[in-house]
Amino acid sequence: MKICRLVKLSKGYGVEERVNVLNSLDLEVNPGDFISIEGTSGVGKSTLLYVIGTLLKAEAGHMYLYERDVSAMSDRELTVLRARKLGFIFQESTLLEAFTVKENLEFAQSLVKTRLGSPAQVEALLERVGLSDRSHFLPCQLSGGQRRRLMVARALINRPALILADEPTNDLDEYWGHRVLKLLSEAAREGAAVVLATHNRAGWEQATARYQLHDGQLQQLA
Ligand SMILES: Nc1ncnc2c1ncn2[C@@H]1O[C@H](COP(=O)(O)OP(=O)(O)O)[C@@H](O)[C@H]1O
Ligand SMILES: [Mg+2]
Repeated sequence: MKICRLVKLSKGYGVEERVNVLNSLDLEVNPGDFISIEGTSGVGKSTLLYVIGTLLKAEAGHMYLYERDVSAMSDRELTVLRARKLGFIFQESTLLEAFTVKENLEFAQSLVKTRLGSPAQVEALLERVGLSDRSHFLPCQLSGGQRRRLMVARALINRPALILADEPTNDLDEYWGHRVLKLLSEAAREGAAVVLATHNRAGWEQATARYQLHDGQLQQLA
């Protein structure tokens, strides 16, 4: 089943100072896809990911998640769907600052009860993002890159079917940037779909399809 489908979708901001961002845009996301959305800063990549993640509503057109029109879904249904199916790596920091590294992951895990939700999985993921020795630190005791890696781990902890990664390699050095992209592409190989936004083309090597966002529309790149 298709994970996500956008049909002639439009979204902008404001009324008097109107900014049109997405303009009759089409996109299809299937299991196993690793889609990179490239484009300069301010072009609308984050807006697109927020719409796909059901955190912003489209103004025109349709968005379907698992063949269901999201505009016909209740807030409660959307909340459940986001928790169970989506993993969002936000561009800006969205960590729980009063909780430790480990607790940030445990909290995300507690939102969805699955067979996979074990303490061992928290440990394994911390290991993979290089934070095992920081599990009792608070986010404010981490470097920018370590915070980013924690956000990546948090997005992956419930094995989401759709991973929305908004410039996930920001603040990361080459080594960790590469490792994070590898984690995402492994998730795609295991059947998840990844939609990655990038302003500097980091990650396009992993992509199964590349698009340029320009003038509110997506153009497929070779
Ligand atoms: N809440 C908002 N209100 C008004 N304009 C916004 C808002 N969020 C984003 N924009 C505008 O929408 C455009 C696209 O922003 P964004 O999606 O963040 O781009 P990108 O992620 O590609 O840098 C920008 O011109 C930005 O100024
Ligand atoms: Mg952005």
